[in-house]
Amino acid sequence: MSAPTRWLWTGAVSVLALACSVGAVAQQTAVQRGNAKFEHSCAPCHGAGVGDDGRAMLPGTDALRIKYKGSNPPVPPLLEQRTDLTAPVIKVFVRHGSFSMPPFRPTELTDAEITDIAAYIADKAKGAPERKK
Ligand code: HEC
Repeated sequence: MSAPTRWLWTGAVSVLALACSVGAVAQQTAVQRGNAKFEHSCAPCHGAGVGDDGRAMLPGTDALRIKYKGSNPPVPPLLEQRTDLTAPVIKVFVRHGSFSMPPFRPTELTDAEITDIAAYIADKAKGAPERKK
């Protein structure tokens, strides 16, 4: 095999390998993609994060615990347990921020990625304890 032919083959094989890995990413579901984005962009503030003293130490979880303290029906402080957050509602908060929550630009999170996060939250919240009416 001549050198140019070998290069051609090497190139073709790399392109094929790349196409396969791109295919694998495309096969992820919206919930899986949303889970990854949530872990990266939201969980640092909205995770469970209980500290040594048993209190949540994360600003999002803590702020929402205070905001909804004593609310009836009760609203869980963890976004992943909320069944009332639709994609459009989440989009408004993510695009505009809220108090110490910063807004996210479309270059940081696309609309499609926010929709994926909403799908992840909805899926996760299905397993959350039933809210009292
Ligand atoms: C730097 C910390 C931080 C990050 C990162 C963050 N948030 Fe927040 N988020 C907050 C805080 C703090 C609040 C509560 C603001 C307030 O007092 O009303 C909040 C509130 C919210 C609310 C409003 C809930 C309600 O009932 O009022 C939603 C929805 C939300 N965040 C979604 C998200 C999503 C989705 C992400 C990831 C894309 C995210 N946040 C990332 C800190 C954060």
